[in-house]
Amino acid sequence: MDWNTLRNEFPITRRWAFFDHAAVAPLSGRAQRAMTEWAADMAENGDVHEPTWVRRVEEVRRLAGRLLNADPLDLAFVKNTSEGIGIVAEGLLWQTGDNVVTAAEEYPANIYPWMNLADRGVELRTVPSRDRRLWFDDIRAAIDSRTRLVSLSSVEFASGFRNDVDALAALCRERGVYFFVDAIQSLGVFPLDLKRTPIDFLSADGHKWLLGPEGAGIFYVRRELVERLHPIGVGWNSVVGSRNFAKIDFRLKPHAGRWESGSLNVAGIAALGASLELLLEVGIANIAKRVLELTDHLCAFADKAGVQIFSSRRAEDKSGVVSIIVPGADVRELVRHCRGEALVINQRAGRIRVSPHCYNTVEEIDLLVEVLRRSQRARVSG
Ligand SMILES: Cc1ncc(COP(=O)(O)O)c(C=O)c1O
Repeated sequence: MDWNTLRNEFPITRRWAFFDHAAVAPLSGRAQRAMTEWAADMAENGDVHEPTWVRRVEEVRRLAGRLLNADPLDLAFVKNTSEGIGIVAEGLLWQTGDNVVTAAEEYPANIYPWMNLADRGVELRTVPSRDRRLWFDDIRAAIDSRTRLVSLSSVEFASGFRNDVDALAALCRERGVYFFVDAIQSLGVFPLDLKRTPIDFLSADGHKWLLGPEGAGIFYVRRELVERLHPIGVGWNSVVGSRNFAKIDFRLKPHAGRWESGSLNVAGIAALGASLELLLEVGIANIAKRVLELTDHLCAFADKAGVQIFSSRRAEDKSGVVSIIVPGADVRELVRHCRGEALVINQRAGRIRVSPHCYNTVEEIDLLVEVLRRSQRARVSG
C-alpha cells in the first residue's frame, strides 16, 4: 500500500496532523464530493433524480454489508450510535429484576439508555476496569441468571482498551445473554465478521474511523431477533409495501429495515458510502496494521517525550486510541498548544488522547513527540 499517495484522498493533510479520529474525524475528499454532488443535484433538480439516490442508498447498504460480512438487509441506517442503542433498550421486553452488564468507563451513549430502564425494574451493572484493562473474567462474574444483555464498546473511548469481542460474543452465547456492541471506535479500522462472531446487535455512527459525516450510522440486528424487539419509532417506511402510499397495509419489514421509519439522511449516507469504498479498497486488515504501527511508534517514544502511556498496549488490547498521562500538565491547555503547532489531539479523563488513522505518517507522529517533549521540558525547567 502506498500510504503517501493515499494522503491525497484527505484534504485535512494539507493543514493539520490530525490525530483525533476517536472524536469527530475529517471527511475524506470523496465523502466531501459525494455530499456536494447531492447538494448540487437537490438545488438544481429537486427530486427529479430520486431513483438514482434511492439506488445509491442501497449500494451503500451493500458496502456496509461487505464491511461487516452481514446481509445488507440486516443493516438499518440510523442517525447515530445512540439511536441503535435506544432501539434495543426500548424494544426488548424487560421484566422486573432483569439486568444489563456494561463497563463503568463506557461512553455515556452506552450508559444512559440502560439507566433509563430503572423504572421498568432493570438493574444496570457497571464493571470497572482494573490495571487499565477491562477483564473478561470480571464481565463473566457480573453475569447471572437475570442478565438479559451485555453491552460493550469494541474499543473503550477514553482508555483505548480493545475488548475481545469474539470471546465476549461466545460467552454471551454460552450464557444465553444478548450481546450488543457499540462499534464506533473500531469500525473502519479493525475487521469484524458478523457471520463468524455471533453479535446480536451493533450500532456505530460514521463520524469516527469510518471517515463519514455525523448523522449517518449503521445499526445491525440479527435476523432471528427482529420479532423479539418491540419496534419503536414505526413510520411509513417500516412496512413491506412502503412505497405504495395509497394502501394502508400494516405488515412490518421482516428485517432491520423496519427501523428506518421515514426519509433518510441521503447526503450523509452517500458520503459515508464514498468513505466506505475508500476503506474497503485499502483493506481493513491493512488499515489495522498501519494504525497499530503508527500508535506503536508513538508509544515507543513516550519516554523521550516525558509522558507515560496509559493505554494497555498488549497485542490483544491495543487499538487506534492512545491515552497518555502528561505529568504536571493542564491537558486542555496542552491540546490548545498542539493546535497552535498544527497538531490535532484531544483529552479525555485527565489524559491526552491521540488517535491516528492510516493516512497519518510516522513523521507526523515524530512531530507530536517533539512538541510534547518541548512542552514537558519547558514545564519542568520553568
Ligand atoms: C464509544 C462511543 N459510543 C458512541 C459515541 C457517540 O455516539 P453517537 O454516535 O450517538 O453520537 C462515541 C463518541 O462520541 C463513543 O466514543
